[in-house]
Amino acid sequence: MIRIGFDDDWLVHMGELDRPVPRNTAKTGTAGGPAELTREEGGRPPVPEALLASVAGDLIQRFFNLADALEPGWEPVQLPDDWTTRVAPTPPTEHRRLQLGSDELHTGYLPTGPAWYRKVFDVAADWDGSRIRLDFDGVMRDAHVWVNGSFIGSHYSGYTGFGLDVTEFLRYGDEGRNVVLVRTDTTTAEGWWAEGGGIYRHVWLVVNEPVHVARHGIFVHTARLDDDAATVVIETEVDNDSAAAVDVVVEQVVVTPDGRTFATSSTPVRVDAMRRATVTQELVVTAPATWSPDSPALHRLGTVVIVDGDVVDDVDTTFGIRTVECGPAGVLVNGVLTPIRGACCHQDFAGVGIALPDRVHEHKIELLRELGANAYRTGHHAPAPEILDACDRLGLLVLDENRRLETNDDGVADLAELIRRDRNHPSVFLWALENEEMIALAPMARRLLRRLVDVAHRLDPTRQTTIAGQFAKNDPVYMSIPDVAGFNYDNGASGRYRAACPDAPVLATEDASYVSNRWVYEDQPAAGLASSHDEGSFLERMTRADAPAVGAGTAGGAVATQFGRLANTWDNLLAHPYLGGVFVWTGFDYRGECVPFGWPAVNAPFGLMDLCGFPKDVYHYWRTRWSGEPAVHVLPHWNWSGREGQSLTVSAYANADEVELLVNGHTIVTEKVPPSGIVTTTAPYEPGTIEARGYRDGTIVATATRTTTGAPAGLALRAVNDTCAAGGHDVAIVRIAVVDADGEIVPDACPVLDVSADRGATVLGTGNGSPADHVPAASPRRPAFNGLALAIVRSPREPGPFTVTITGAGVGTATVDIEAR
Ligand code: GAL
Repeated sequence: MIRIGFDDDWLVHMGELDRPVPRNTAKTGTAGGPAELTREEGGRPPVPEALLASVAGDLIQRFFNLADALEPGWEPVQLPDDWTTRVAPTPPTEHRRLQLGSDELHTGYLPTGPAWYRKVFDVAADWDGSRIRLDFDGVMRDAHVWVNGSFIGSHYSGYTGFGLDVTEFLRYGDEGRNVVLVRTDTTTAEGWWAEGGGIYRHVWLVVNEPVHVARHGIFVHTARLDDDAATVVIETEVDNDSAAAVDVVVEQVVVTPDGRTFATSSTPVRVDAMRRATVTQELVVTAPATWSPDSPALHRLGTVVIVDGDVVDDVDTTFGIRTVECGPAGVLVNGVLTPIRGACCHQDFAGVGIALPDRVHEHKIELLRELGANAYRTGHHAPAPEILDACDRLGLLVLDENRRLETNDDGVADLAELIRRDRNHPSVFLWALENEEMIALAPMARRLLRRLVDVAHRLDPTRQTTIAGQFAKNDPVYMSIPDVAGFNYDNGASGRYRAACPDAPVLATEDASYVSNRWVYEDQPAAGLASSHDEGSFLERMTRADAPAVGAGTAGGAVATQFGRLANTWDNLLAHPYLGGVFVWTGFDYRGECVPFGWPAVNAPFGLMDLCGFPKDVYHYWRTRWSGEPAVHVLPHWNWSGREGQSLTVSAYANADEVELLVNGHTIVTEKVPPSGIVTTTAPYEPGTIEARGYRDGTIVATATRTTTGAPAGLALRAVNDTCAAGGHDVAIVRIAVVDADGEIVPDACPVLDVSADRGATVLGTGNGSPADHVPAASPRRPAFNGLALAIVRSPREPGPFTVTITGAGVGTATVDIEAR
């Protein structure tokens, strides 16, 4: 198999085209317009000149409907691309009376609708006779694909990938150039968050011999794991796309992390013409290095398909040797109880929307790992493959979610695509089959769920299934249809369930939904800003008198009064330890679902980190819960010029026995830390330093301080990566801080910044973590928000050093050097 990156040299047309492109045509290959080469590009009807010159010529020309040139509005673009990063959100029409559940609130006031993508490419002459496929990892959404004037296929979901065989439609060698056209359309939604738009994950051109491993056709799993040996089972689907039966031989080699190899014997199989055969093989790996969050050892499987002594296909698969089971006490990895420290995540990131370069995916997973998380929930849809690769490498368990509770062909196909694509990842430990379905109490839901559980078990008998359950939490019949009863916002419901079904496995699939914005310490509804102090539940804050943006309605399960309190989730976990840990909603802020205040907020403020990955105070709360090390955190920041003498709320988060809070060395309070880990008091503001000291057994084990800073005086830059791959597909991630003369971050500074890069590197996007920032993500100019901002810079095509320069109003210029290799 040859797999060629197909991300370069596309054009994008945002918005509808003047003329529709037909799917069915009266004559083959005559969709014309942008679905074919234009005359300017050398396009001509593929019929002999003599025929064109004959009396039929005019008619033929009309049928082929070739365009002279593309209509205006096409722009060059490199994939992955989220076209919504280039537009600003639009203020709501009916200002300040939004209901939860309104489209604008969901989409973060970003536009939806069609966008077209097009690419002209060549195919080598000697590929004629191969099977050629276009693989799309993710297109948002309702993709329709044409190649060389013919409609090839469509795919509705914006989250599952799809492959389209284009073999017969291509032009090989000097037959001519090729063109692929993709229509995307987000007019209708799949989710209740901002979903972005466009071809936002990778595209691949896959070239196979006629006899080859099927798409997602390898399934490798640990059938038995003992201390000294693991039995690995490999199922391989071999497709014979040729006209004659073939005798093939399949061989597998496993390479362990320390370089030992184990091989299967050669297994022969006959594959009939135009048919698929499945080969099951087994091998034993001695002294296996097992995969776990603490030690994510990865093995490599090399699969070879041989016909008449020639290798016709070889495929590499990364996998892990491990067992995972959700049992009555929690999650067991290789038999060891492993409490889930999980974060639910949507796809977005600052500057790039949903079109994350691979390094940004990895960066997000690294940030979660640094925080102490050991699990990731793909809320609420199939993730980008790179997320799972990073979770495999970095050791996060993945709750892989198919939100669609539908057993129609398309719903089952989406679930199958998710499972077949992801089942070799050791990180994936559980399939989630729905999230908070409102029909959960109707008989129909039971039927749908039972069917999907069966489908999942058939496709992957090695993993359990769950749901992210909400509306039927008190219905033990529904909750026990999947293998594991998943509770969103449990709040004790799991206790009632376990009373009815003792010892049934349960999991806190979602909880928390704590709203806060980074370094904001008062709810400011008119500015769309949510305080980092716990100012009441989500619902209370949303409906406060001066928060007119949102009416109380029904949305997610977090909208009940007890949820969204900082301590609630942890207290519930302590009371119901069999929940096995928790998936916090969410790891990062995301676009859309901009509660509690709506416009001007356009982002959801549930993240432990903001959209740039900058930690909020709530991040530190969870660090104190999840870290084995003593940890303490103090809030707010201590820059309150003009508020001298006023009483301010001060909190400490700690995993200590006792906390002492001090202002400028004077003790304000010393208090026993409750199980939830939060101590709150008030202190009169005076410039200087606020400090929290955590004590265990009377000894200081951790401290945290916030100090009043001077005025903004400069910029401090930190490149997350100071090298990147040349070629234009990798990025450098640059964290920007506005600092005072002593180099301290000024937590309320918001100067406007301009980002540039030289030597062929280009600014892909910027962000600042503000929920109410309306500058398009792709803009190189951005105000800092509360002292911080982020730039994402695309690597140059050629190797060599390049410099990222940031200039800020009143804070001068700073640079950082990156090496493109
Ligand atoms: C949950 C839902 C999430 C999100 C969250 C907000 O009920 O699963 O998608 O909407 O509420 O609190």
